Amino acid sequence: MKLSHEKVVEEHNKFAYEYDSYYTGRYNEFVREIELDILSEYLPKYKTVKILDAAGGTGGLAIPLAEKGYSNIFCVDLAEKMLRIGETKALKKSLSQKIKFIEGDITKLSQFHNNYFDFTFCFGTALSYCDAESALEEFKRVTKNKGFIVLDFKNFYRNLGMLIQNKDEFRVKKLMQKGIYSSKYHAFKEIDFRIEDIAALIRKSGLKLIKVLGKNTMYQYFSKIDEKKVNRLFKDKDDVDFFMQLDKKLREDASFIPLSLEIVAIVKKM
Ligand SMILES: C[S@@+](CC[C@H](N)C(=O)[O-])C[C@H]1O[C@@H](n2cnc3c(N)ncnc32)[C@H](O)[C@@H]1O
Repeated sequence: MKLSHEKVVEEHNKFAYEYDSYYTGRYNEFVREIELDILSEYLPKYKTVKILDAAGGTGGLAIPLAEKGYSNIFCVDLAEKMLRIGETKALKKSLSQKIKFIEGDITKLSQFHNNYFDFTFCFGTALSYCDAESALEEFKRVTKNKGFIVLDFKNFYRNLGMLIQNKDEFRVKKLMQKGIYSSKYHAFKEIDFRIEDIAALIRKSGLKLIKVLGKNTMYQYFSKIDEKKVNRLFKDKDDVDFFMQLDKKLREDASFIPLSLEIVAIVKKM
């Protein structure tokens, strides 16, 4: 199925100024900490390595990585307004030297030569609304041999659950038959993935799938409680440690992974 880039760009440019507010609130901040925890396991230790943050938007991950000392980050995104917000945030934190914000399409990374990056990641489920096969081909080309590529995908079963809750017969049928999900909230369509779809996609790309993980494993519980209660649950460092340790177990638990909001694939270029 052909996905429309125009609508993706138009919509992300439209809500660019609100985008970071989706990541406020203690639970959403915790999700960012989880994302960084997953990345940190596979990131090379040398801080000068070249990192591709594919579809990096407003730099929600590029900026904390630069704060950790990484100094060669390339945040590529189609939506110019998302990038400008990222640039302004980086400037305010004196991190502009460490992150380049580049307007570009992750399915056509011709501005980078082969084997340019030591590490590539694509978080925020952009692979669900672009041609994932072409993006993987490009990630494979621009990442060095033995380099890790860490990707996340929208989880088919979570969206199915949401449609069932609304008894949305039309969208349930489309998702079940074609893996296509068209949310009421977005103008663009997306492809949702089961673990076996991700494995097939990666197999086809010639990359090696090292493992899959669940991301945002506890979303279904936290999304049902109010902000005050979340703040009480995340009161101090011990609370955060408890939930982080729990997430570390759940994200690796094969039975639990399909209950997570997103699925992460840890991939290697051999
Ligand atoms: C949900 S946002 C995630 C942004 C960022 N990765 C994060 O975690 O905050 C998805 C981003 O993917 C970008 N995107 C979608 N398709 C793309 C493509 N083909 N090339 C580059 N960026 C793309 C959108 O413009 C948007 O900024």
